[in-house]
Amino acid sequence: MCGIIGYIGSKEAYNILLQGLKRLEYRGYDSAGIGITDSKTGKIVLNKAVGRVEKLKGKEIKGTIGLGHTRWATHGKPTLENAHPHLDCSGKIAIVHNGIIENYLELKDRLKKKHTFSSETDSEVIAHLISENYKGDLRKAVMESINDLYGTYALCIIHQDKKEIVVARNGSPIVIGLGEKENLVASDVSALVEHTKRVIYLDDLEMAVLKQDSVEIFDKDGKKIEKNIVTIDWDLTQAEKAGFKHFMVKEIHEQPDIIRNTLNLEMPKIKNDFKRIFIVACGTAWHAGLVGKYILEKHARIPVTVDVASEFRYMDPIIGKGDLFIAISQSGETADTLAALRLAKKKGAKTLGIINVMNSTIARECDDVIYTRAGIEIGVASTKAYISQLIVLYMLAESLSGKEINGLKDLAAKALKTVDLKVKAQEIAKKYFRVYNFLFIGRNINYPTALEGALKLKEISYIHAEGYSAGEMKHGPIALVTDQVPTVAIAPKDSVYSKMVSNMQEIKARNGRIIAIATEGDKDIARYADDIIYIPKTEEILTPVLAVIPLQLLAYSIADMRDCDVDKPRNLAKSVTVE
Ligand code: G6P
Repeated sequence: MCGIIGYIGSKEAYNILLQGLKRLEYRGYDSAGIGITDSKTGKIVLNKAVGRVEKLKGKEIKGTIGLGHTRWATHGKPTLENAHPHLDCSGKIAIVHNGIIENYLELKDRLKKKHTFSSETDSEVIAHLISENYKGDLRKAVMESINDLYGTYALCIIHQDKKEIVVARNGSPIVIGLGEKENLVASDVSALVEHTKRVIYLDDLEMAVLKQDSVEIFDKDGKKIEKNIVTIDWDLTQAEKAGFKHFMVKEIHEQPDIIRNTLNLEMPKIKNDFKRIFIVACGTAWHAGLVGKYILEKHARIPVTVDVASEFRYMDPIIGKGDLFIAISQSGETADTLAALRLAKKKGAKTLGIINVMNSTIARECDDVIYTRAGIEIGVASTKAYISQLIVLYMLAESLSGKEINGLKDLAAKALKTVDLKVKAQEIAKKYFRVYNFLFIGRNINYPTALEGALKLKEISYIHAEGYSAGEMKHGPIALVTDQVPTVAIAPKDSVYSKMVSNMQEIKARNGRIIAIATEGDKDIARYADDIIYIPKTEEILTPVLAVIPLQLLAYSIADMRDCDVDKPRNLAKSVTVE
């Protein structure tokens, strides 16, 4: 949610910032901007564009200190005025901001008497506030200003007369990259790894001052502190498309390897003395949590409650000592999941993170963390991270119960066969890519698979899709069924197969068209389905892994046929660091 990059050194900053913004673009892509202290005039020059980072290409500003920003609009539409960086009235101070300033209207009212505002953003107040407090020492001015801010921020600030970048954090991620005679700062390490592998993660209420040859970190009282330097081990080839048309389809194809890699990871020793488990997450990670409930309850027989983080944090949950709280998050930065984690910790629960991004805030704040082995996920719609979250949940169930889950070891090979269903998915997509509505139904452990299938389709193709538990169809959604509203039925040969078949018949009886996800060898299903995608036979508990892959492929093929921007769907962002 908004990407920030800053550079100070001896090289020309523009293309470094531009390249960094491209790496961060998955965080938001409504508008982009770069601000650099012009080496000839000594004044800050801005270059902004509505839309993609690409539009800033070839419009270089000369200078070696600068900031860049890619925006996911919260306050104000994606216009040039609302794009960052924002300047104060004198034009001497430029800021970029990720987060939300909740008391900005109050501050704006106060500042408006002396300052002219040129955007609708909450962020612009920060530039004017710093200018108000500036008396020659930029760090001090920032420190005084953030005392007045209520909300979340990752902030980078430059002043045209200063050879430094001041950084501040509260609630939104920011990481500093230590280079040779240059230093950088960014929302995440993906924008830094080309330049350095040595980084410092800022924690909440800390500040930093970056100069060409030094980085100083300060605590909330302004006292200088030492922080750990972390060496990151990242392979940038993962951030390339490797011949695939989109990252999403590349990431779908990586899933068999990811299952293998994740199964190889070492589980932390977690003592099984919990009364209850709470799983909290957002989006696709929440769907993994819903599958996790079935896995953990069926296999480890521990009661599990699953909530979306944005609800959990405000529901005054009854959680405490003796409970295990599990946060599932690909990015490890999702604001609601982080807030839910902090609440669970405060109430005394033991906390465990199932996280993909190393050293992310949630990973750092959990008592224990299991890192999924999905590698860098670039497509905004999550695929391979979901699969790796499911695999970790199976392993956790094994570890908590002390019993093996049969078939887990063969799953990667079966997933490989499932990924080959791309052609079949394309064939079906051709028939349906023009419809306006889709239904997805499943039961039991594949009810969340139906939710995930519907989410994938709506995220990337903008077709309205509803995921429903098949048994609930007759309580409402069946009213939507016509020959123009296809239903995807997840119906592997399992303990609820005959119930699924009944629900499919109810849809057929109302002229609905059905695409079935069925088990290889199930010929009978052809009586109820117009199209069938067969997945390999596996244990019931493992079917969500194989069943979701054709749904990902179907969503991808439909979105591609509709010419949608698959990797960067409109209005979405990969890392949601605002509430
Ligand atoms: C965004 C992404 C989703 C993701 C969700 C939770 O909405 O577009 O793909 O599932 O955030 O993100 P997390 O990083 O916490 O898994």
